[in-house]
Amino acid sequence: MTDHTSRLPGFAQASREERIGILAERLGGNAEALQLFDNLGPIEGGLVDRLIENAIGVMPVPLGLATNMIVDGEEMLVPMATEESSVIAAVCNSAKRCRDTGGFFTSYSGSLTIAQVQLCGLSDPRNARAQILGRTDEIRALCDEVDPQLTSLGGGLREVDVRLVEARSGTMVIVHLVVDTLDAMGANAVNSMAERVAPVLAGWTGARPLLRILSNLADRRLTRARAVWPADQIGGPEVVEAMLLGAEFAEADPYRATTHNKGIMNGISAVVLATGNDTRAIESGAHAYAAHGGQYGPLTHWEKTAEGDLAGTIELPLSLGIVGGATRVHPVAQLSLKILGADSAEKLARITAAVGLAQNFGALRALATDGIQKGHMALHAQNVAIAAGAEGDEIEAVAAGLRAHSRVTEAEARKLLDDLRKD
Ligand code: MEV
Repeated sequence: MTDHTSRLPGFAQASREERIGILAERLGGNAEALQLFDNLGPIEGGLVDRLIENAIGVMPVPLGLATNMIVDGEEMLVPMATEESSVIAAVCNSAKRCRDTGGFFTSYSGSLTIAQVQLCGLSDPRNARAQILGRTDEIRALCDEVDPQLTSLGGGLREVDVRLVEARSGTMVIVHLVVDTLDAMGANAVNSMAERVAPVLAGWTGARPLLRILSNLADRRLTRARAVWPADQIGGPEVVEAMLLGAEFAEADPYRATTHNKGIMNGISAVVLATGNDTRAIESGAHAYAAHGGQYGPLTHWEKTAEGDLAGTIELPLSLGIVGGATRVHPVAQLSLKILGADSAEKLARITAAVGLAQNFGALRALATDGIQKGHMALHAQNVAIAAGAEGDEIEAVAAGLRAHSRVTEAEARKLLDDLRKD
């Protein structure tokens, strides 16, 4: 494709079929390979085009169910969308091991979403701050006018905060609109409010209004989960001690904390994706929150109870919605919410946090005992078999051979496949 231009005039206006035709031409007339794009699974063609621009098809990601979860006393099946093997198995396994202590217990700080308005060029930022804070009622009226439906349901502006942020060009006045967006993720509502309010704030203060956008550091929308794993359910006191040391490593070292949190997000992002929510918003918020103490740290903490059991806690911002966006229109997202019984953004957030904690337990236990590769590679063996060219029944036969030899490599899979085919 390198000798072609990437300018494709009219591509955006073309139908999806026409776009595939254009792409086929670019691939040297290889339309056959593009037949993959005919299969949209449970999505109807018009929806793909409404969701994104220049659509050519879909990228299916496996959707699985995590079993064994009990969240706040309720038995749960949790749909998770992920391409990574062993993520769902880890949640099932971890959740099973804390059932005797009641599973996961959660709390939620509320659905407060922050929008920021940047005001520049003021020589008297403190004066501006005082002016703005003195007119909170007027700001509330303006914001609530923007989304009367939200207001009628009990949501709307809750607080105005004004921060003075020292930047290279001088002091910026940053106004935070703190809005209860109820069951919505809330980006559209708060962005519209910020855009409505910005020129008014500028008029009052003489500032130059610039950016008006929500903040993904959703620290007014925190979700917490906790669970206790009995020592005898996880391999005894030595495993408890080893897991505590592993967790301490993440507290002390950002290199480890990043991987520790990546594992947590394996679980969280899979639920977020399955429910049609914004994975990037959740990821950026989580990682920023992980650094809120000044040094990047773990999102979970692990302690030993007086009885010698392992207690885990997680706290992170989770801006999730069950109305609006892809969640509302994507049939798989709708079905996922139904399976979860998530009738509020709050419930969805509570379950999601519990999954993050379960995921971290699973990773930490594996790392502190056998190492991650044993379980991971056992599950990954089928992918490796497929990559080596195995088909149909050959896949499991080659995967079984890989597991038996504990050498899960493509070269080994090719060798096993050759032997199989010779037989
Ligand atoms: C792999 O996707 C996730 C882990 O690296 C997480 C961790 O190290 O805690 C296993």
